[in-house]
Amino acid sequence: MTLPGGKRLSWALLLGLGAASCRPSAERPTEEPWAWDLPPGFPAPLVPLDNPMSVAKVALGRMLFYDKRLSASESISCATCHQQALAFSDGRTTPVGLQGDIHPRNAPTLTNVAYAPRLNWADPGTKALEAQMEGPLFGRGAPIVEMGLVDEPRREAALARLLADERYREAFERAFPEAPKYTFEHVSKAIASFERTLVSGGSAWDRYRAGDAAALGEAERRGMYIVRDHVGGALCHHCHDGFNLSGPVKHVDAPFDEVVFANIGLYNVGSTGAYPEGNQGLYEHTKNPSDRGKFRTPTLRNVAVTGPYMHDGSVATLEDVIAVYVEGGRVIEAGPYAGDGRKNPHKSAGLSGTPLSAGQRRDVVAFLNALTDEVFLSDARFSNPYPEDEHFGE
Ligand code: HEC
Ligand code: HEC
Repeated sequence: MTLPGGKRLSWALLLGLGAASCRPSAERPTEEPWAWDLPPGFPAPLVPLDNPMSVAKVALGRMLFYDKRLSASESISCATCHQQALAFSDGRTTPVGLQGDIHPRNAPTLTNVAYAPRLNWADPGTKALEAQMEGPLFGRGAPIVEMGLVDEPRREAALARLLADERYREAFERAFPEAPKYTFEHVSKAIASFERTLVSGGSAWDRYRAGDAAALGEAERRGMYIVRDHVGGALCHHCHDGFNLSGPVKHVDAPFDEVVFANIGLYNVGSTGAYPEGNQGLYEHTKNPSDRGKFRTPTLRNVAVTGPYMHDGSVATLEDVIAVYVEGGRVIEAGPYAGDGRKNPHKSAGLSGTPLSAGQRRDVVAFLNALTDEVFLSDARFSNPYPEDEHFGE
């Protein structure tokens, strides 16, 4: 493997492989076993039977995730919209695709994405990372173009670009010793394996939970009681629940296929209960009117760096998010989306407003800020493997 030497060393140390991995790369077994390096209390993610984890696959997936040659224009990579310093979101309201087209939805964080039983903001049919990737890679199912590999010739050309690079021939060989190795099935399996490693559980809140009482200050602790324990009448924890502060998670100890979509009253276009056209949430899949405006509950981990917020990036700051919950929805006074979201007939039960004081709102923001995992945001294992090479980047 030709990853920069320092990187390989840190993998080896973190995986506790010790002396075995100090052997020269040529002698190392191709399928080096995978060992999860999980934060305390984190259950092991579920991995599809036909795509077991391996060190070599994760290394290949990391290269591909950062490689712009994987897009038709050779100008964007997955990391363009999923940037590590922003917990793998992109800081924009909605991202700009390959041809300058605006994506209707905000680029979500990939924090702990291995635990998500469904992917995308409101997509009941997409369960696996391997399947999700057909969206960004091939532009499947929508007029939106992300990486732009919309037809066979473009896919062939992208693969040829990769294989002109010696590093990929070696990396595919190690990750997929069987033939044929250079396929998009393997591209997708490798990237999914890398995505499953994006586990984050090193925030101040995690240190507090592990017994370090000083890890959270007074305000952060008060905010925690509001978000986690119903103080002040807030119901946050009903939806942002568990170790991931998210909707239902799926893992080896909870292989259930649970999924919840909620409408938090962001819109009520023309008092009809509608959300903006093209962004109606679950309704777009089910055509059931009561599913209008329903989206997946995102994780609150690293939320301080993933703004702007919500499925369409229409809420700028955490203070603004809290105002939505305090009011029981959002009122839009004028423009094409005018309407009183508080009165959206499809709004989920229990979101009728929470009278938090100004101080309590500040406490909630303080707690949300304590959910940032600084190590995750700069962990060398998740970073661009070839920052000096122009083909790789965000
Ligand atoms: C142009 C920006 C853009 C690019 C490039 C892009 N994505 Fe995304 N990604 C998004 C947006 C926007 C969504 C939300 C889509 C939705 O909800 O319909 C998303 C959603 C996801 C999700 C679902 C996360 C979750 O928790 O629901 C994953 C996983 C993902 N992308 C991985 C990738 C991978 C892998 C690549 C490269 C092959 C990639 N993305 C390229 C913008 C992008
Ligand atoms: C009924 C379930 C539910 C409750 C209760 C709830 N949320 Fe949410 N939350 C959601 C959903 C669903 C979204 C995404 C909505 C969308 O995009 O339209 C969301 C989005 C968010 C976001 C934006 C995250 C991002 O990445 O864009 C934050 C922050 C947030 N909620 C915090 C809170 C806080 C704080 C509370 C308690 C005051 C709370 N939520 C209560 C379901 C809920």
